[in-house]
Amino acid sequence: MIRKYTFGTPFSTDAVILSLPAESGEFPFFKLTRENDRVILTRKLQPEDCLFGLGESVRGINKRGHRYRSWNSDVFNHTESTESLYGSHNLLCFFGPECCFGIYLDDPGLITWDLGYTRSDTVVITSENGQLDLYILEEDSLTELARTFRRLTGRSYLPPRWAFGYIQSRWGYASEEEVRTVAEEHRRRRIPLDGICLDIDYMEEFKNFTWRKDAFPDLPRFTADMKADHLRLIPIIDAGIRQENGYAPYDSGEAGGYFCRKADGSDFAAAVWPGICCFPDFLREDTRRWFGSLYRPLLEAGLEGFWNDMNEPALFFTEERVESAFRRAEEVHRNPRDYEAMWRLGDSFSSLANSLEDYRSFFHESDGRQVRHDRVHNLYGAFMTRSAAEAFRRFDPGKRFLLFSRSSFIGAHRNGGIWQGDNFSWWSHLKMALQMLPGLNLCGFLYSGCDLGGFGCNVTEDLLLRFLQLGVFTPLMRNHSALHTREQEVYRFSTWEWMRDVIRVRYALLPFLYSEFMKAALTGGMYFRPLAFDYPKDPRAIHTEDQILLGEGCMIAPVLEQNAEGRYVYLPEDMLMIRFRSPEDYDLVPMNKGDHRISMSLREFPLFVKKNHPVLLCPGGERTELLDDRTFTAVCRADGKVSYDLYRDDGADPDPVLADHLTTVVIPASALSGSPVPGVAISSLVL
Ligand code: GLC
Repeated sequence: MIRKYTFGTPFSTDAVILSLPAESGEFPFFKLTRENDRVILTRKLQPEDCLFGLGESVRGINKRGHRYRSWNSDVFNHTESTESLYGSHNLLCFFGPECCFGIYLDDPGLITWDLGYTRSDTVVITSENGQLDLYILEEDSLTELARTFRRLTGRSYLPPRWAFGYIQSRWGYASEEEVRTVAEEHRRRRIPLDGICLDIDYMEEFKNFTWRKDAFPDLPRFTADMKADHLRLIPIIDAGIRQENGYAPYDSGEAGGYFCRKADGSDFAAAVWPGICCFPDFLREDTRRWFGSLYRPLLEAGLEGFWNDMNEPALFFTEERVESAFRRAEEVHRNPRDYEAMWRLGDSFSSLANSLEDYRSFFHESDGRQVRHDRVHNLYGAFMTRSAAEAFRRFDPGKRFLLFSRSSFIGAHRNGGIWQGDNFSWWSHLKMALQMLPGLNLCGFLYSGCDLGGFGCNVTEDLLLRFLQLGVFTPLMRNHSALHTREQEVYRFSTWEWMRDVIRVRYALLPFLYSEFMKAALTGGMYFRPLAFDYPKDPRAIHTEDQILLGEGCMIAPVLEQNAEGRYVYLPEDMLMIRFRSPEDYDLVPMNKGDHRISMSLREFPLFVKKNHPVLLCPGGERTELLDDRTFTAVCRADGKVSYDLYRDDGADPDPVLADHLTTVVIPASALSGSPVPGVAISSLVL
């Protein structure tokens, strides 16, 4: 059941696809107060209550015990005390012995979520705008809540099948030759690979929609050559357009009046990678159309995948803010004895980036109205994604494109995926990536993943291995690292063969994982979810924070600590553990419900599978397009005959109909007899 309540005149965010009448009765579940413009919702928590949701956010799967802020932020240095990340996903589900409901705030401005932070038994949610649509969702189970929310907000984005392949990326690939070498080093060692990301280095002075003719002389030919080898190039596009006369995207943006403006009517400008930039007003339909059309030459050059970045939007500084910092510096210089002012001087410079004052200084245009940016801040990245997705649909309506963004808002989940932003090569960020995935799925972002290996600082070999072992299961499996960090391509490391085997397992599982993804996306389900969803009566499962469910029948529990050589795992029911070393080399271990210590050497990683749920392994391959998805080994802890619905579409059709593409695979009861592992069917299938 969904109930809608409207406060004031909300901005239309495009997040919701159902049009519902607003209720006028008493507001349920919360005490509602208004303080100036704000809407404040307060609710007492019972000791057993858990909170799920909030999509991209730090800390646990259960969000209880921290304060979060919905405010899309470029936070390179995030840690567990960070309150905002790159996306704002305003869905929170309350789950306890006496409650199972969700609250969704369709509000693009600042929201504070005090989830037992000020008082451990109280939730306080504050909307600063106070003008919003608020939805209460009530169902008997968390699984149904998730489905109802998807009904409200629409089907998740479907990437093309090749986007499930392994992608190599690095900030710093500065020429065609270098990118070709990366491809060649993978090919030579038979490391599977489907795509290579081009970071800002491919552009002329980091300017969108250009490419450096000295280093990438013929992008269409390069793209075609790679494609002949079943590899895709995936260029980055940033939000800002450099303010420079004679640069075509700026000239056309200026001529059309498409940029965000300040109160005096002049274009708002701030520095990002290319220097001083203007910012397209993506909230306007004509701007989205214009910006989307700028992708066209790249699409015509054969490119089929993009990542959109810096779209919170990130602002390094504005000239006004720099000016005032210098003025303060001069004052301090004149009064060197004012120690406190001297001490605070550093802040004037370190707070130049992403300043609230700047976000308050420019406007969008909507239905002829001027809307101050901070009131709709969290929409910016989502509407950039929308601009690109709409352009791709116009350009080739018969095709699925790869598109993933850094910044997002609910609604963008229909148009693209997201990556989890600039993480570090830290073990704690490996755990954070795992814990974030169920919340992202709940909010509709199924196609996601973190920068495997970590973006910032230097990775160690063992950490990269463990990151890749998580990445085997994340729809976006991308190794990405920052300029000046240790080179992070798997072939740089002495254990590259182990890393290759991890990636090979991904390719062997790819038709199965793709199938699980498609079923989740097409039925409004979750590809990843907390254990509480399937075991709502099992307190041990509900409070499990380092294992998550995958698809219909699987659970993952990666090793998250250095030198651990294994971990504790909780099985909420009898399961089969597949301990992988490679697609050909794995142990099948039936395990009973309960707590276990499992050993996992550095090259090993587990997949747990419920009874009567088969896992299908194909012979693998080095490219998604070259996979043999007709020949499988099926393994299953089974009680008798079992079947599996395998989703086999062409991976490109933008609107697949579930039933048309399903092949039902049957594993006969006879596969159980003669199996070397009692109770586990092992079956070779040719479709
Ligand atoms: C941002 C992105 C990162 C990218 C870098 C350079 O930090 O999050 O992925 O490599 O910009 O473009």
